[in-house]
Amino acid sequence: MSSPFRPVGTGRSHDPNADLVFHRGSGHCVWDATGRAYIDFIGGYSALNLGHIHPRLIAVAQEQIRQLTFCTGGNSPWRAELEQALVVVVSELGPANRNLKVWLSSTGARGVEVAWKIANANRPGGLMRFDLSYHGRSLATSHISDTQRSSALSGFSKTYPMGQEVDGVIPYPRCGSQCDGHCAECDASIAVAQRWLEKNGRTTSAMIMEPAIGARGYYFASGEYYRRLVRTVRQHGLLVISDEIQMGLGRLGSMVASHSQGWMPDLIVFGKSLGGGITPISAVVGDAIQMDQLGQGIESETFGANPLACRIAIEVLLMLNDTIFLEHVRIGGDRFRELLKRSLPNGCAVDGRGMCTVIDLTSFRHESVDVAWRWVCQLREQGLLVHLTGAHRERVAILPPLNVDEDTLRYVASILSESLEKELGSGQNVT
Ligand SMILES: Cc1ncc(COP(=O)(O)O)c(C=O)c1O
Repeated sequence: MSSPFRPVGTGRSHDPNADLVFHRGSGHCVWDATGRAYIDFIGGYSALNLGHIHPRLIAVAQEQIRQLTFCTGGNSPWRAELEQALVVVVSELGPANRNLKVWLSSTGARGVEVAWKIANANRPGGLMRFDLSYHGRSLATSHISDTQRSSALSGFSKTYPMGQEVDGVIPYPRCGSQCDGHCAECDASIAVAQRWLEKNGRTTSAMIMEPAIGARGYYFASGEYYRRLVRTVRQHGLLVISDEIQMGLGRLGSMVASHSQGWMPDLIVFGKSLGGGITPISAVVGDAIQMDQLGQGIESETFGANPLACRIAIEVLLMLNDTIFLEHVRIGGDRFRELLKRSLPNGCAVDGRGMCTVIDLTSFRHESVDVAWRWVCQLREQGLLVHLTGAHRERVAILPPLNVDEDTLRYVASILSESLEKELGSGQNVT
C-alpha cells in the first residue's frame, strides 16, 4: 500500500528509503504512515542511540515542558547541570586536573562551527580534514565536508563563499579496524599530513577529524593511526578537534571515542543522540584556555542551551554513561559482526566497532553496480531499514539503538544473510 502522505519538500537525498513517511516509533521499531512496522537500524545516524521515544526521556521531557522550556539567554539550572555532566564525561578518561569548559548549541553543524571559531581564535588559519569528512551542511561546514561530493550534489563549486581556501585534505586509510596503524596506506596518509604541515602548518589552525568515518562510508582506522596523526599535527602547534557527533556518546562502545582510542583532542563536539531523539542539542567541550578565546558576543544562538534540551541531555548522559551498558554495546556489536562474518556470503567484508557495523559489497560490483541498492530495497520489503553508503553506494551501514537486545540482533543478522543470498542468486558465492 502506498503512503497517503507525500512530502513536497525539495532536496531529499538519493536514498532507497527517502520516500518513507514515518508516523510512530518505539524502541528499535518505527511505523510508516500506512501502519507498516520496520526495524529501524538507521537510527537517525546515531540521533537515536536510545531508540525511539524512550519512556524515561519522555517522562523528563514532559516534566520539563510543564516547568520551563525556554529562557532568554539560556541560563538555567539544567544548563549548569548539563555542562558539569559533560565535563565529568570528558574528564573520565582524559588527563587529570583539566579545567574544562562547555559551549552548547543546537545542531551538530553549529557545534562544529563553534569549535572552528575557537580554533581560529587560538590561531587564525585554515583547517585540515579527512577526504571522507562529513561535518554538516551549513554553509561553513559544507566547506569541510567531502567537498567534491557535496559540491557535485549541490551544484556549488569547490570554493564556497567563505573568503578563503582552507583545506588540507588528508586521505583517510580504508584498511579497516584490524590494521595496526602502520600499513602502507596509514603511512601514506601520515606522509600527506606531514607534507601539508611543513608547507602550511603556520597558517592552519586545527585538524578536525571523526574518530571513525560516519556519513562518508563508515570506515574505521585503528587507534594507532589516529595517535600517529595527532602527534604529527601537534608538532606544528595545531589544535585537534574530534567531531564525535555521530561516533561519540556510546556508539563505538565508549562515551568519548577519541579517548578510548588513546588520543586526546583539544576540542570535542557532541550532538545527535545528546538530544535523545527529542530535541536538537550539541556541545563543544575543551580546555578553558582555548574555550575562553571565544570572546563575548562572538557566538550566540536563540535556542542554544534551552532548558528542555538541557534537561533531556542530562538524562541521556546518565543513561549512556554506564559501564555495564557500554560493555553491552561493545560485546553485543562484536557478536553481531561475528555472526555476520559467519553467515553472509563469501566476499562480503564486515567491519565496525561497538554498535556501528558496515558491510562492504565491492567484490560483487561486477555482478551489478546496484547490488547494494537492490539489497537495501529488499530488506525494506522485509521490514528492516539500513543505510546505503559509500562513494559508489557499495556499503551498507547498520546502526541499531545501543540498548537493542541480542535476540533482535540475531534476527537481523539472519534476515541480512538470507536476503543477500537471495539477491545474489540462490546463495551462490560470486567472489
Ligand atoms: C560527524 C558529523 N558531524 C556533523 C554532523 C552534522 O550534524 P547536524 O546534521 O545535526 O548539523 C553530522 C550529521 O550527520 C555528523 O555525522
